[in-house]
Amino acid sequence: MTNNRPTILVIDDALCVRQSLQFILRDKFNVLLAPGALEGKFYLSSHHVDIVLLDIRLKCIDGLKLLADIRERFPYIEIIMITAYASVETIRKAIRFGACDYLIKPFDKDELISVVRNALIQRENKLGLKNELDMLKESTLYLEHIIRNAKDTMMNSSETNLTAMLLNIDSKDGYTWAHVKRVTSLSLLIAEKMRVPVEHRRWLKCSASLHDIGKLNIDTDILKKESKLTGHEYESMKKHPEEGVKIIRPLPFLKRAVPAIKHHHERYDGKGYPSGLQGGAIPFKARILAVADAVDSMMNSPVRQSPCALERVERELQSNSGSQFDPEIVDIVIRERLLSFV
Ligand SMILES: [Fe+2]
Ligand SMILES: [Fe+2]
Repeated sequence: MTNNRPTILVIDDALCVRQSLQFILRDKFNVLLAPGALEGKFYLSSHHVDIVLLDIRLKCIDGLKLLADIRERFPYIEIIMITAYASVETIRKAIRFGACDYLIKPFDKDELISVVRNALIQRENKLGLKNELDMLKESTLYLEHIIRNAKDTMMNSSETNLTAMLLNIDSKDGYTWAHVKRVTSLSLLIAEKMRVPVEHRRWLKCSASLHDIGKLNIDTDILKKESKLTGHEYESMKKHPEEGVKIIRPLPFLKRAVPAIKHHHERYDGKGYPSGLQGGAIPFKARILAVADAVDSMMNSPVRQSPCALERVERELQSNSGSQFDPEIVDIVIRERLLSFV
């Protein structure tokens, strides 16, 4: 049907009812006639339909069941129930199942037209709301896309800046860049073996990459020094976790990396720095970082005369398990032979 008139589908097994409805409606609407549920469903899936006039008592199927089916598959088609037996209970059920109104046989012409018109208004309102909702959804998706892109751009440019900062430290001590890479990869191995969820591993990677960024604010002579640090120099060096936090804090999207950066030099027995946190009070990612950091320091620190062999590092980890390090993390490193990947 190519005209712009609304289309009414009549599903009723009584020929006389179909004909009388068609007779009343055909001047103002397109009318499709279906003698049963099958034909009705055929029209619904093959034609544009605005309103269904549905007999509550069909021969082959309960009209209320067909009502529920149509309502589920075509939520924007309004359904008016037609019945010869208007018990309050039946009408209540029909409304509960999603009918917008009902008509009692025999029909009053004016009432029929009025009920159909009201149903069309309801349908227009629903479609209007649906369109608004669709537009809102589309706008939300678009905004999310814009925000994601802006965040990526910000992350990329910040990552570039932070990498430049790490390279700056590396130019002073010739160590930090490679150290950070090794600490990051060992931390991620530990986290993987400990079945740490992916999202947390992402933040662990971020924290590990930036854990020593605070060295940027430490005196170059101290960073460059190859011999043992004096007490005063060591105290200055100990400030690098908090200096790191100062550098990262203005970047709100890196907020979740802060705890591990701040606490990567805490000890399990509470004798570490900067806060002297103990055991489980130390953020989990910081406990992983502490082990990975110490392993790399033992194996690759330029200050050491001779790097420790794997066996010696293992012994060091075991003898400090529960005092310096989280014993569960040490167990994983030893049991999974993770040192061979450093
Ligand atoms: Fe550190
Ligand atoms: Fe480190």
